[in-house]
Amino acid sequence: MPKILLCVTGGIAAYKVIDLVSSMRKRGDEVRILMTESATRFVSPISFSSVGAFPVYTDAFDVNNGMILHTTLSLWGNILVVAPMTANTAAKIANGIADNLVTMAALAFKGPKIGVPSMNVRMYENPITVENLLKLSKSGWHILEPATGHLADGEYGKGRYPDNEQILFEIDRLLGPNDYKDVNVLVTAGPTREPIDPVRYITNRSSGKMGYEIAKAAKIRGANVILISGPAALSVPYGVERQNVQTAEEMRNAVLERMNWADIIIMAAAVADYKPSAVLNQKIKKRVDEMDIHLVKTKDILEEVSRIRKPNQFVVGFAAETENLLENARYKMESKKLDMIVANDVSHSNVGFDSSYNEVTILCGNNDVIHIERNKKSYIAQNILDIIKSHRVKLA
Ligand code: PMT
Repeated sequence: MPKILLCVTGGIAAYKVIDLVSSMRKRGDEVRILMTESATRFVSPISFSSVGAFPVYTDAFDVNNGMILHTTLSLWGNILVVAPMTANTAAKIANGIADNLVTMAALAFKGPKIGVPSMNVRMYENPITVENLLKLSKSGWHILEPATGHLADGEYGKGRYPDNEQILFEIDRLLGPNDYKDVNVLVTAGPTREPIDPVRYITNRSSGKMGYEIAKAAKIRGANVILISGPAALSVPYGVERQNVQTAEEMRNAVLERMNWADIIIMAAAVADYKPSAVLNQKIKKRVDEMDIHLVKTKDILEEVSRIRKPNQFVVGFAAETENLLENARYKMESKKLDMIVANDVSHSNVGFDSSYNEVTILCGNNDVIHIERNKKSYIAQNILDIIKSHRVKLA
């Protein structure tokens, strides 16, 4: 679990860090907040302690804690983030000046450090600031590039505080194993929609969460990730390339087009097995008491992918079952010649479809059967990647 030293300095973007702290709390991170005197002019320390329920420190010489703050805190954390990082604080740290709690802790801290510069464009582009940030990068800091856009003072340019999503991603990436570095991972997620007429379609309860968590986890662990997603109300995980599709046929086309690039293909999407044989051009009128919709089978993408893949491509399928979980999953794995299948029982509402939780049994080509108890899909995703990794090594 990340133990984050979050240092806030005096920029207008300081208010955006409140949301960052709130996200960290929801994730279960442990956080200590350090503020410079000027940061407290923009946002009250009370705001930070209220949203985070974390201790907030502002005074390097505060003796009430019975400790030397900057040395104790810098030993406590496993990552340090300065957000926003003003030109002033960047200059001080780059030049070894330690005249407040933030700069003192930053100089004493030995683990990974992230700087989030955020300032007026002319300050950011000033050669002195450029040099200071470069100096920090060369000494091991991970300096995020500010976004370009309208700045708080009405000017336009580079200097905007980035998305908090990006900061959280960098924290996880730097603390993660980076064991998927340069591995190309293709993930499918979400449901498909098979149109009946211009306003109606057949779909299923898949939210996309399972596939999105796998894509996110792979990206954090260093992979290049393409996510082919059916309609899902989820934001694209930071750094992941998403291709949106609607129907099973569109998903098939997208997967076939992209699969050559992939080292690992993970098919978590709930693709429709049947679709209406014809799509009506006009909305069906309510004129009859009964009607039949004739359905035809869609193409099985997973079967096709596994059949035409290159020898070194690793293919993982999912099996969503309401009965005979292992028997059905094993049949799918063997008949489609998969390297691995992730079986989930979808007959319970607290796991599987449209839940943030899942409970899975993973079958591997070498007869390994691994059960993962009910847990968050983010946790299940990490476990799936661990198992793929060890199994790929065995195959190599
Ligand atoms: O999206 P969530 O709400 O997070 O829910 C997650 C999930 C339950 C959808 C996910 O964990 C899951 O089980 N996905 C697979 C769902 C499914 O369609 O299972 P299946 O047993 O019907 O299909 C077996 C495999 O064949 C799957 O990998 C599926 O992607 C693939 N398939 C199915 C039909 C088809 N025409 N083409 C396929 O490639």
